[in-house]
Amino acid sequence: MTGRPLLNSWKKLIKHADEMKTQHMNDLFSTDENRFEKFSIELPNMLLDYSKNLIDSNTKQSLIELAKECELENWRSKMFAGEKINKTEDRAVLHTALRGSVDKNLVLDGQNISQQVDKQLDKMATFVEQVRSGEWLGYSGERITDIVNIGVGGSNLGPQMVTEALKHYSDNCVNVHYVSNVDGAQIVEILRPLEPERVLFIVSSKTFTTTETMTNAKTAVNWLTAASFDEKSVAKHFVAVTSSPDNAVAFGIEAENIFDIWDWVGGRFSLWSAVGLSISLSVGYDNYRALLDGAEEMDLHYKNTDFENNIPVILALLSVWYNNFYEAETEAVLPYSQYLKKLPDYLQQAIMESNGKGIDRNGDAIDYQTGTIVWGSTGTNMQHAFMQLVHQGTKLIPADFIGYKESLYGLTDHHKKLMANYHGQIEALAFGKSKEEVYLELKFSGEEDKIAKLLPFKVFEGNRPSNSILFDKLTPHSLGKLIALYEHKIYTQGILWNIYSYDQFGVELGKELAKKLLNTH
Ligand code: F6P
Repeated sequence: MTGRPLLNSWKKLIKHADEMKTQHMNDLFSTDENRFEKFSIELPNMLLDYSKNLIDSNTKQSLIELAKECELENWRSKMFAGEKINKTEDRAVLHTALRGSVDKNLVLDGQNISQQVDKQLDKMATFVEQVRSGEWLGYSGERITDIVNIGVGGSNLGPQMVTEALKHYSDNCVNVHYVSNVDGAQIVEILRPLEPERVLFIVSSKTFTTTETMTNAKTAVNWLTAASFDEKSVAKHFVAVTSSPDNAVAFGIEAENIFDIWDWVGGRFSLWSAVGLSISLSVGYDNYRALLDGAEEMDLHYKNTDFENNIPVILALLSVWYNNFYEAETEAVLPYSQYLKKLPDYLQQAIMESNGKGIDRNGDAIDYQTGTIVWGSTGTNMQHAFMQLVHQGTKLIPADFIGYKESLYGLTDHHKKLMANYHGQIEALAFGKSKEEVYLELKFSGEEDKIAKLLPFKVFEGNRPSNSILFDKLTPHSLGKLIALYEHKIYTQGILWNIYSYDQFGVELGKELAKKLLNTH
């Protein structure tokens, strides 16, 4: 055994888990009436209730000891200070700088980070205004009505998820579409109803070499020029977001139509940079700024709050608790908002590309479990899909329920029902339904004759953990907070597992082999 399992806190947690496994959540609640007060954290417009976890005060204390033994505080400071914590790529990790959460005088490789960020934000704001106001015209003098963002992975999942999540805040002055797959079916179907003279393409690629993106971008250029009969029309219809401007210019994009990102912004953490241009075009720059402000609020909470009351730290520790001490293999993310239907997809990249690592920061193979598999869908649809397994199956699946007190669309009857289901699911998972309850239910519903046959099937053992992450309302600001929460949870888990969260070498081999195959056929 190596690394983390040798830590005292880790050993203590193994023993403690054995004790906790003999207890039921019903007992944890009946023996402690202050459980909610002990295991909840409130921030403005937001409440984390983590009382329905398989923990007691000792668990929390031991988990915090683990965080301390892993020097989390030190590593958290290093990230915000711009140290090159992404050692395998020799890069700093500063997506927090995009929301203004780092020292304004922070200089990296001779450049003032905040000034660089502000300059790009100003450029974005101006461009967004030009397009949305109709000042930016296409080759034939028509205004732009449709935006097509071409990008994959982090250059797609984040902006697409947020655009969908903030649909309520869009005035529909432009429609935003996303093309990511190299399967031409996607671009063909997206372009089919569009008029070339009214479409603006954003080619979003940090490297500007990614096969999917380059292939789709070339198809888009051909589609445009086939209609305009003029290669110069590309200048009016293509912008790029990249950290490789030379590649974008070589592709044919005008230098002034290029928005910068930097190597200290990881692809899957880049929606806060110009990669978020499509979001901003959809909801307007002010709403985009509010998203960044919400993320900044979570950054400051993560940076300045002790571990006991720190939402990302607590959620990371709970996740490690189940992953490493309860052998849980997966985690579910269950937003009770149709607007967040793309959140699980987005989190799959953010979490699994970051923490799916089997080598520790010393370069040694790891003999304990790291990255969790994350999956999910929206309530209430998923209740009619996979929740059977979560309630009565043989696997332990900790779940995050994400909900909103207020609806955005009126229809309070819908929202009441939605939230009744939200709370109902959490309660059913935690407390279940005992044999006695099932017995009495069948007896008093006149189905006494069915008791012998049905009773075991209708029992819910409960004792299944979940977190409730409840916001007042889905706004750009609260969404920013939610996303930043998960970003910090990811980093915290990386530290707890002693892995590098910000590289992704595991995606390379398949790409290389595909290239070789293309060259030999
Ligand atoms: O999937 C691998 C990856 O490198 C992601 O990390 C990244 O978000 C995506 O490819 C796209 O890369 P780029 O923005 O350079 O096109």
